[in-house]
Amino acid sequence: MIELSKNIADYLESLYDRDFVENYRKYIESYPNQYIRIDPFSDHQSLIERLKNYGIELEKTVLPFAYKVLKGSDKIGKTLEFTLGLYYVQSLSSMIPPHILNPTYNDLTLDLCAAPGSKTTQLAELMERKGTLIANEVNQQRVGSLNFNVDKMNLSCIGVMKQKGELISKTFDNFFDKILVDAPCSALGIVQKKNEVSNWWNLEQAEKIAEVQFKLLVSAIKAAKVGAEIIYSTCTLTIEENEFVLDKILKKYPVEIEEFDLPLKHVPGFTKFGEFENPKLALAKRIIPWDNDSEGFFVAKLRKKSETEPLVQSNYSKSHKIFFIHDHKFIKPYLNQLHEYFGIEKDILARFKYIQSRSDLLFVNKDWVVEENSYFIKLGLKLGVIDRKDKLNLHSDAARTFGKFATKNKIVIDSKEDLEIYLNGSTIKKELDALGQKIVEYEGMILGSAVQTKEGLKSQFPRNLRTNEILLQ
Ligand SMILES: C[S@@+](CC[C@H](N)C(=O)[O-])C[C@H]1O[C@@H](n2cnc3c(N)ncnc32)[C@H](O)[C@@H]1O
Repeated sequence: MIELSKNIADYLESLYDRDFVENYRKYIESYPNQYIRIDPFSDHQSLIERLKNYGIELEKTVLPFAYKVLKGSDKIGKTLEFTLGLYYVQSLSSMIPPHILNPTYNDLTLDLCAAPGSKTTQLAELMERKGTLIANEVNQQRVGSLNFNVDKMNLSCIGVMKQKGELISKTFDNFFDKILVDAPCSALGIVQKKNEVSNWWNLEQAEKIAEVQFKLLVSAIKAAKVGAEIIYSTCTLTIEENEFVLDKILKKYPVEIEEFDLPLKHVPGFTKFGEFENPKLALAKRIIPWDNDSEGFFVAKLRKKSETEPLVQSNYSKSHKIFFIHDHKFIKPYLNQLHEYFGIEKDILARFKYIQSRSDLLFVNKDWVVEENSYFIKLGLKLGVIDRKDKLNLHSDAARTFGKFATKNKIVIDSKEDLEIYLNGSTIKKELDALGQKIVEYEGMILGSAVQTKEGLKSQFPRNLRTNEILLQ
């Protein structure tokens, strides 16, 4: 059971009141409800039916892409569909900031503090998996989970940067149309899930984090075009983060705070506290956790009104432009191999641009605009590896993107035993007429690639996905 620390209880009583503290205590002692997010442009009904077979029951929420898990929450993170990224487990409140930002694929979009990628992957889905979405994260280990989620959700419209968010406008000044600043915070809205917060939380720490938030917002404003939208969100309930940060920003930088519709129950931001007063902050919104059976959040929408001074002139040497459109003479032979071997139509392959990274080939959607690929530690998804005979071996991630368009060398696994072997990365003892690579399908879902050898069908299911415990219906 989570103990509510005296620091937190005293703080909340001073900002809110005693009833709030009592509600907070009850909230952190209860179990969090689980929610899932399904790509708004996918077939929800067939996925809901599949999940029923595991004993998972879902209920609609006010957000059209979010469902509450009524039954089977112990299974929701273990299904094959979860492993294949057909849905994402995420709190309802956490889905709000991307929902408000609501980018389309025409918006150059930045997620400044992105790991582990719950909101990045949601933004990519809102952008219909196209366009340019840059996901930045400073912490190396957390970049690993961001990359993992981008691959798992099979998103080829994302470039991952590892950079102090404060410095992003060195690279991208006056550039983006939409920016999410889901800032590091003192996490009072998610103590139910992150209970160690109760051990370290104190006001000095919250104030230190507020300074970082301020700097991140300044950086986002510089990186935004005039007219661009910035969503600032935190999962904490203090006024030192949230309102005080916004107040300083609104006084010093050319942004205005704007109204927006928030479909969950919420309260306006504080406009007065002690000597502090700023009526505009009523446009910011606070989600109180127990009002919505979810987490506590704070959200505000800003619009950049005029030019800002660049942080430092960018002097980055731009020397790594190695994108290839589909009919470039370098990439064409490899795409022809995919066309001839798997029967993938050329117009499907033309929906992407291609990048060489040593012997690997990568792909991003064709609308990707940032030509300089050395900014990114990960860009797009893996298409495959070129072997010594100059043959392209298709990567499982690419098999998942292109598999539904393949008409040849595609095989269907039809037993649970074989499925388990495939998911373990082992070899299914199976004889096929032709040796070589195959795209593997199970119950209408593309699992990845495999190679038929004389011993059988050797799985190429990605190693990092194999470690999951996967339940089969
Ligand atoms: C609230 S979390 C982001 C959660 C993420 N948006 C999601 O929905 O999955 C804040 C993230 O900011 C990162 N962070 C902290 N300081 C940063 C900085 N100076 N620049 C960029 N990212 C930072 C943290 O490592 C953390 O991953």
